[in-house]
Amino acid sequence: QLGLETRTIGKMIHYQETVESTQKIAHQLANEGVQEGTLVVAEEQISGKGRLMRSWHSPKYSGIWMSLILRPKIPVHEAPQLTLLAAVAVAQAIEDTTALKPQIKWPNDILVNRKKVVGILTEMQAESDRIHSVIIGIGMNINQQLEDFPEELQEKASSLLIESGETISRSTVIQRALYRLEKLYDLYLKEGFKPIKDLWESYAISLGQVIRASTVNDTIVGKALGITDAGVLLLEDDKGKVHSVYSADIEIQ
Ligand code: BTN
Repeated sequence: QLGLETRTIGKMIHYQETVESTQKIAHQLANEGVQEGTLVVAEEQISGKGRLMRSWHSPKYSGIWMSLILRPKIPVHEAPQLTLLAAVAVAQAIEDTTALKPQIKWPNDILVNRKKVVGILTEMQAESDRIHSVIIGIGMNINQQLEDFPEELQEKASSLLIESGETISRSTVIQRALYRLEKLYDLYLKEGFKPIKDLWESYAISLGQVIRASTVNDTIVGKALGITDAGVLLLEDDKGKVHSVYSADIEIQ
């Protein structure tokens, strides 16, 4: 029904109207050994998960809430590369379906006109240094109106409808996103992270700017120099010291 043109990604689709979180179902399926490329999609999540233990607002029929299972043979420390890969694929899918110009805020928020329209949550299952599965959760705000967002999000969040003024077909966006994901994943398996990194940097919003990165117990303010080959953000503070940031919330100063 999605009219997919992909080979493995989205070949098996688990669709449910209402779930707690597609991420949770994807973890269960991954444990059961389902094939790579299996996708979980829902119309609504009642406890959608965001990064850094936050919740993710996922109202019925207005967005895309999906989790993809991959099983790459890469070491654990390279898994963040897949998050960046997913962000590029989704940005491309937005360009394929709208006239909007998406930008990526490290590591994987997609902004349109400086407002967040997409969030990506990557989790993995691994034993020692062997990845068992990587679960990429993608939440896309598609057809929400501003008043559909909780008040505290209205300044920072948006949807493709709000930004483009047009109702967007969710199935077309899913189809494009899966197509782009497969193309980039194939490229990644063949040529490594370099081409993905270059693409990611072409969408990056914060490189060269001074940003504030807040982690659980630390805040670093510095100029964003770029990302490493592992997908780690490099920040240079005012003393010239370069910090590697693995996971944080960033704010552009
Ligand atoms: C973020 O904090 O920006 C990441 C949000 C990720 C939300 C998606 S929606 C589909 C999948 N299932 C979840 O519970 N979360 C992710």
